[in-house]
Amino acid sequence: MFAPLSGTNVLAVLLLCGTTFAARLPSSAFAVPPGDATYDYVVVGGGTAGLAVAARLASSGASVGVVEAGGAYELDNGNQSIVPGYAFSQPALAPVEVFPPRPLVDWSLVSQPQTGAAGRKVHYAAGKTLGGTSALNTLAYNRGTKGSYQKWATLVGSSAYTWDNFLKYFVKSSELTPPDFAKRNTPNATFTYDTSVWCTGKNCGPLQVSYSNWVDPSHTWFAAGLKAIGLNTSTIGHNSGILQGGAYTTETIDPSDPWFGTATRSSSESSYLRWAIANTQLMVHYRTIATKILFTSGKATGVSVATEGYSYTLTAKKEVILSAGTFHSPQLLMVSGIGPSAKLSSLGIPVISNLVGVGQNLQDQIFFSVQNGMSTPSSPSILSDPAQEPAALQQYLTKAAGPYSSAGGYIAFEKLPASSRTAFSARTNSLLNALPADVPEIEYLAGSFAGTGAGVVTIGDLSASILNPFSRGNVTISSADATVPPLVDMGWLTDPADAEVAVAALKRLRQAWAAPAMAAVKVGPEVKPGGAVQTDAQILQWIRENAIQIWHACGTNAMGSSAAAGAVVGPTAKVFGVAGLRVVDASVLPFALPGHPQATIYALAEKIADDILAGR
Ligand SMILES: Cc1cc2nc3c(=O)[nH]c(=O)nc-3n(C[C@H](O)[C@H](O)[C@H](O)COP(=O)(O)OP(=O)(O)OC[C@H]3O[C@@H](n4cnc5c(N)ncnc54)[C@H](O)[C@@H]3O)c2cc1C
Ligand SMILES: *[C@@H]1O[C@H](CO)[C@@H](O)[C@H](O)[C@H]1NC(C)=O
Ligand SMILES: *[C@@H]1O[C@H](CO)[C@@H](O)[C@H](O)[C@H]1NC(C)=O
Ligand SMILES: *[C@@H]1O[C@H](CO)[C@@H](O)[C@H](O)[C@H]1NC(C)=O
Ligand SMILES: *[C@@H]1O[C@H](CO)[C@@H](O)[C@H](O)[C@H]1NC(C)=O
Repeated sequence: MFAPLSGTNVLAVLLLCGTTFAARLPSSAFAVPPGDATYDYVVVGGGTAGLAVAARLASSGASVGVVEAGGAYELDNGNQSIVPGYAFSQPALAPVEVFPPRPLVDWSLVSQPQTGAAGRKVHYAAGKTLGGTSALNTLAYNRGTKGSYQKWATLVGSSAYTWDNFLKYFVKSSELTPPDFAKRNTPNATFTYDTSVWCTGKNCGPLQVSYSNWVDPSHTWFAAGLKAIGLNTSTIGHNSGILQGGAYTTETIDPSDPWFGTATRSSSESSYLRWAIANTQLMVHYRTIATKILFTSGKATGVSVATEGYSYTLTAKKEVILSAGTFHSPQLLMVSGIGPSAKLSSLGIPVISNLVGVGQNLQDQIFFSVQNGMSTPSSPSILSDPAQEPAALQQYLTKAAGPYSSAGGYIAFEKLPASSRTAFSARTNSLLNALPADVPEIEYLAGSFAGTGAGVVTIGDLSASILNPFSRGNVTISSADATVPPLVDMGWLTDPADAEVAVAALKRLRQAWAAPAMAAVKVGPEVKPGGAVQTDAQILQWIRENAIQIWHACGTNAMGSSAAAGAVVGPTAKVFGVAGLRVVDASVLPFALPGHPQATIYALAEKIADDILAGR
């Protein structure tokens, strides 16, 4: 139906478009045939952070080799990864133990049983493709709060992470296309935003950020319901270091992708890598797994890798940069001899740096929703209706607009009001009071599914995410072999404070649904959790059985000021106890930032690339 994005045609487009970049054929950037090579920098993991770091290092004239386990998602996952409207319905995301696997683009990790969440094991999607998880995620782009970056700066002892100093890296990494209100075509969903926190002029980006050319009609009602319980629509949006109230969110969508002629996902591959291929000598070892970081006298000198089973060595003259993500970066450190010495010794791995923090401190924001029938149309109700879908497809292909051009929509943040905190224990209150004053506790997200039944056009899905989890999980290994998956335990709801906050948040969702502002579109009895779930104990049990990840796991190689305090890397992302090795990805975030992490991960990659080139 959508021929331009089928596998072979994509290949044709990629090759044809290569001619628009005079300097270099795209294929010349891929190490075929594979074999031993030497670079100034070897970057392990061609994901969100890895390709951003690699592109900036290569732009200095340095030679850079990227090692990526996956291939090109445009070929391996087609329009599932390219079309924004599919972002939420990708089968690859299913957070259940038995899921439809997508082995070409996803690591297919399944967690340890979650003792705080009814013993469930869940599939935790993690991108295994050029672009990494930026090729699978749901595209929301927002930055944390000023207080959260101040906390980071204080924790690691570096003022580089304060909002005022870090903002330049958000600006450098991205390019914002202003909202096209005519295409959005929803007069009741206009807004203002802060233009001062974005790049202007030339050389912005390469990451493309925009407001989608479509508003899911059901989301306008959630905006009204959230406003009714005290969350106004923000006049500045969620990218200025302030997260208060709601906003139609910015997304990593290229609203006019020249390659496909419509609105597409902007990943680190479609942005940083394509730019680097055209403008630098960066080399990509794709479908290549890194199996071990190599050391000589405590200095990282290269990486053992294997392409389709063929093993060889990439030597790093200057540094190795590990960007394999929250689950695989700690795994690679451990199999290479960096981690808790007792664990390493038990598996016969010689210890190079005894760092107890490797794999610990995993922080994972969970979320859950309250669903009701709605009489309003929504993106899924339109796309699942054979009478309406063809027009939506044409709208997407010819105008880069309509439901296929858009992913999420309306997001809101708050600290819970006093009326929601009456059941909190003294401990929970003191934990929450210790957070920075501007850090919200809950994020609300508007969502929708196609509905069925009398008058039900849409199943409205209003969800809440716990932004500051106090529970801690971990990543460990069961083998010295890097091809054996790491063991991931998110530790969901193992801290009672998270359970108390979750119950309060679910009640807030019900308050929004009960607002008179939503009465005109709400149909029938509550679908989820349902009327039988009423007492706090029932609500908590339901949350334990139904909460899932919002896929923001981080913190497993925490940045900090000293290894003794459990940190793994210092303020410039250098691994403690060795030389020539940094970690740059979500694993080094010292704690979960409020909202969605990719904006911060791109900015961090820019910042560390700057550090490396400046010799810091
Ligand atoms: C379903 C989903 C939805 C999400 N939605 C959002 C959202 O809307 N907004 C947002 O901000 N964030 C979202 N996130 C989170 C965000 O996308 C991630 O936090 C971020 O992309 C992680 O970046 P990273 O650089 O740490 O790791 P990744 O991007 O995962 O990169 C790691 C790379 O390393 C490679 N790799 C790993 N091990 C090896 C090895 N041994 N050898 C070679 N290569 C290896 C991987 O294949 C991968 O390409 C979502 C995540 C998921 C899974
Ligand atoms: C995506 O691809 C599938 C399978 O080829 C096709 O059925 C569908 O219409 C495509 N969707 C879009 C929006 O192109
Ligand atoms: C906003 O406008 C859209 C499009 O006209 C409509 O479907 C939706 O119901 C309206 N929302 C509200 C809250 O009035
Ligand atoms: C929300 O906006 C209204 C005006 O529209 C204002 O009276 C109210 O104080 C605002 N509430 C908050 C929490 O900012
Ligand atoms: C990992 O976290 C879980 C859940 O908090 C805990 O039960 C387990 O002991 C931890 N394991 C390690 C090795 O830290």
